[in-house]
Amino acid sequence: MIEEYIGMVNEKLAALMDSFTAETTVYQKECVDAMRYSLLAGGKRIRPVLTLMINDMYKGFTTGALEAACAVEMIHTFSLIHDDMPCMDNDDMRRGKPACHIAFGEDVALLAGDALENLAFGVIARCDIDDSKKVRLISTLSNATGVYGMIGGQTIDIRNTEAFSKEKLLAMYSMKTGALIRAACRMGCICAGEDESLADEYGSNLGLAYQIIDDILDITSDADTLGKPVNSDREQNKATYPEVFGINEAYEAAKHYTAQALYAAKSMPNCEELYDFTTKLLIRKN
Ligand code: IPE
Ligand code: IPE
Ligand code: MG
Ligand code: MG
Ligand code: MG
Repeated sequence: MIEEYIGMVNEKLAALMDSFTAETTVYQKECVDAMRYSLLAGGKRIRPVLTLMINDMYKGFTTGALEAACAVEMIHTFSLIHDDMPCMDNDDMRRGKPACHIAFGEDVALLAGDALENLAFGVIARCDIDDSKKVRLISTLSNATGVYGMIGGQTIDIRNTEAFSKEKLLAMYSMKTGALIRAACRMGCICAGEDESLADEYGSNLGLAYQIIDDILDITSDADTLGKPVNSDREQNKATYPEVFGINEAYEAAKHYTAQALYAAKSMPNCEELYDFTTKLLIRKN
C-alpha cells in the first residue's frame, strides 16, 4: 500500500503543478519551475503517507485526504527549500539534486518556497469536503507551520547559542519537525471525521524519533545515500541530540520515542501497516 500512497501523491502533485503552466508569463514560469523542481525531486513522502494511511485505517480512504496529504508535503518542501538557503543551513544538495537556490538562485528559491506554502492552503480550501472539516484542516496545518510549529522551531534552531538541555532540544525538535508530522497524522483523522488524540500522540513521538535519526545520519551516513550533504550540523555548530549526548544515547532515545509511537498506534484500528512503517523508519538509511 505504501507505494500506492506515494504514487497517488506524486500524481496529484504533478497535476497541481501542471495546472499552473497555461496562464503564466515567462517570469512566473521560473517560479513554477522551481516549485516543481523541488516538489517532484523525490523525497520519502513520509508525511503524506501518514495522512493517507491513517485516514485509510479508520474509514477506508475518504475525500479530502489526498489534498490534505499533498498540502502537508508542500509545506514540508517549502521548509526544505528555505532550510537549505545560505542564510539558514547553507546546504547545496537536496533530494539528490542541487538545492533549489543553487538551481534557480536565492531570489526565485525564496519565492518558490513562499508559493508552495500559499498553494498548500489553497488546495485544501478548494477540495470537496465539508466546510467544517476544511476549516479544521487549515487551522491544524497553519498551527503546525507557524510560530508555535515548524517556523518557531527553525527560528530556535538557527538562533540558539546557549547550551541545550535535553528538554529544550526536544522542545525544538517537537516544533521544527514534530509539528508537521503530527499535523499530517491528525489531518488523516479530520478527513475521516474521527477523534485525533491517538494520532496526535503517535505523531508527537514519531516526530522526535524522526529528527533524532536525521541528526544521527548527518554524522554517520554519506551524501550519496542521503541525497543531501553530511556533517552539515557540525559545520553550522548546531546542537543536536547525537552531538550533545553522543550517538548511542541518541539512538536509545529514538528507540524510546518509536516505542511510544508504536504504543499509540496499537490502539488505532487496522494498525498493522502503520506499525510496520513506524518500525522501519527507526532503521532507515536515508
Ligand atoms: C528532512 O525530512 C528534514 C527533517 C525534518 C528531518 P525528510 O527526511 O522527510 O526529507 P524528504 O522529504 O525525504 O526529502
Ligand atoms: C530540518 O532539520 C527541519 C526542517 C523543518 C526543514 P534539518 O536542517 O536537520 O533537515 P535537513 O537535514 O537539512 O534535511
Ligand atoms: Mg535546519
Ligand atoms: Mg538542514
Ligand atoms: Mg538534518
